[in-house]
Amino acid sequence: MMKICLILVLLFPLIANGLQTCEQCISSGNHYCADTKLCNSPVCLNTITVALNCPHAPNATYDDHEARTKWLPLFGAGATNEKMAQKCFDNNWPTMKLSKRILVNCSDPSPILPTTQCAMITAVDTTQRILVLSFRATVGGTQMGEEILNYFVGKKQFFDVGMIFEFFYDAYVALWNGGLSTEIRNLKYKYPDYEVWVTGHSLGAALASVGASWIVKTGLFNPNNVKVFTAGQPRTGDYNYALWHQNTFAYSFRVVHHHDIVPHVPFQYEVVDHDKMYHHRTEVWYNNDMSEGSPYQICPEADGLYCVNQQLDLSWNDHTHYFNTDLNVYGDQGCPKKN
Ligand SMILES: *[C@@H]1O[C@H](CO)[C@@H](O)[C@H](O)[C@H]1NC(C)=O
Ligand SMILES: *[C@@H]1O[C@H](CO)[C@@H](O)[C@H](O)[C@H]1NC(C)=O
Repeated sequence: MMKICLILVLLFPLIANGLQTCEQCISSGNHYCADTKLCNSPVCLNTITVALNCPHAPNATYDDHEARTKWLPLFGAGATNEKMAQKCFDNNWPTMKLSKRILVNCSDPSPILPTTQCAMITAVDTTQRILVLSFRATVGGTQMGEEILNYFVGKKQFFDVGMIFEFFYDAYVALWNGGLSTEIRNLKYKYPDYEVWVTGHSLGAALASVGASWIVKTGLFNPNNVKVFTAGQPRTGDYNYALWHQNTFAYSFRVVHHHDIVPHVPFQYEVVDHDKMYHHRTEVWYNNDMSEGSPYQICPEADGLYCVNQQLDLSWNDHTHYFNTDLNVYGDQGCPKKN
């Protein structure tokens, strides 16, 4: 009896410690083990050190069919002119109607770089009661080059939430002041209880993350009515921004194609200022060509050594192709319907 008691007393701290949730474990200054699901596991392959990465299933269901038939045409519509944007809807989602296209100068005032433009569209489906904000990707290599240069320029405070990259912040504000603010207030007035679908690819993905966060922080929309769906998103903000985003949006998917380079930039551990940048949940990783029927992984960590972060050989071609579609031309072709 005595012996058993002694053993229990000796073991108790270990057991109690081990049974903590990941969040409890990390907030008490320890490391959580994703493999053993124990706090301070002596042997561990995948150690989690930040609460952002505590493994969780997403609160919403990912739907590959909806991604191909709805979100993909929305990427296309956001990336082209008015006429072709409406064609993207007519071909794939006939009840969706273009509301407005906004095109602004979005470069920072750097004297050595050419002016670049940012674009987006809004659209309304009065049958399915959905509003859309779709942001355009980078056009050609120049803008991506400028983005990468701007990564080192700085970050800006995003409301009381955290820091985001200055380039994304300024580009979003240019669109907001260039017509989005008025447009979204009009849409909200006309369709107050519609869902808002916010989306984009590449630079457009970062702007979608910022835009969804913006319309929630300004009190225009309730996050429960907002869906965020991005493809090939670069890291957009810091730890606090990522944590706030994933604690706020029940529906937020970040799709990554195979070895797409862009979700890896800027690198998480910057040499220059050591500010760690993080992705928010939920990454959906297609480790294949994304053709119809391809498998995918719903990644349980936001930005850990998991899914795409385990990849070292990175590809630009994978960045421009999502759902087996060349996004450089898809929108301008009016988003031809897939079989
Ligand atoms: C956008 O930039 C171009 C080239 O620098 C300039 O000519 C044009 O006036 C700018 N447009 C606006 C709306 O500022
Ligand atoms: C997701 O679900 C968990 C568990 O039910 C809940 O605690 C959390 O608040 C939800 N997150 C969002 C953003 O709705």
